[in-house]
Amino acid sequence: MKFFIDTANLEEIKEAHALGILSGVTTNPSLVAKENITFEDRLREITSFVTGSVSAEVIALDADGMIEEGKALAAIAPNITVKVPMTPDGLKAVKVFSELNIKTNVTLIFNANQALLAARAGATYVSPFLGRLDDIGQNGMDLVSTIADIFAIHDIPTEIIAASIRHPMHITDAALKGAHIATVPYKVIMQLFGHPLTDQGIEKFLADWNNRQQ
Ligand code: E4P
Repeated sequence: MKFFIDTANLEEIKEAHALGILSGVTTNPSLVAKENITFEDRLREITSFVTGSVSAEVIALDADGMIEEGKALAAIAPNITVKVPMTPDGLKAVKVFSELNIKTNVTLIFNANQALLAARAGATYVSPFLGRLDDIGQNGMDLVSTIADIFAIHDIPTEIIAASIRHPMHITDAALKGAHIATVPYKVIMQLFGHPLTDQGIEKFLADWNNRQQ
């Protein structure tokens, strides 16, 4: 399973990129709204050093509007992936983008049929939102597992992005259940590093080194 970072914050993206673990970036309108910069400028900044997929979401809700917006976003850099919501209009747009060889990420996936439809329309990625399902008492991880099984049975090349990640166990479980990618907030990426025995081990090694016989 690969890591994307789920943020529009440039500093967070730079930090995660420097860690050497980053395969891509996802943004959404809520994340971009927190930043004090135009969306296009931020996408230019991100794609100046991130070579993997950078998801940029359209705002229009009708297919023609999504296609127009998506084409403009895709023109910013070759690694822009156009993110569209899981609606009939969204999938009409995905079909057109797929014919134009523009990569797509179908977002707001909450059941397996939505994922299958998106894949059949030609989506490059589908994004099941685990945390938001957990929030309403449904098991988000079961959804990843079901989508992974269906895609495997039918030899579907669309990649699964485990999204709406809230904590480190989501990462381990998503990897085990067959997600190809997890898109992870910066805070959770940093939580993945932590183990008290690692900290204690470093402390002990340093103490022993400093007390060594000269
Ligand atoms: C995915 O692409 C979305 O940007 C994201 O994972 C949504 O997560 P949230 O439920 O924490 O807003």
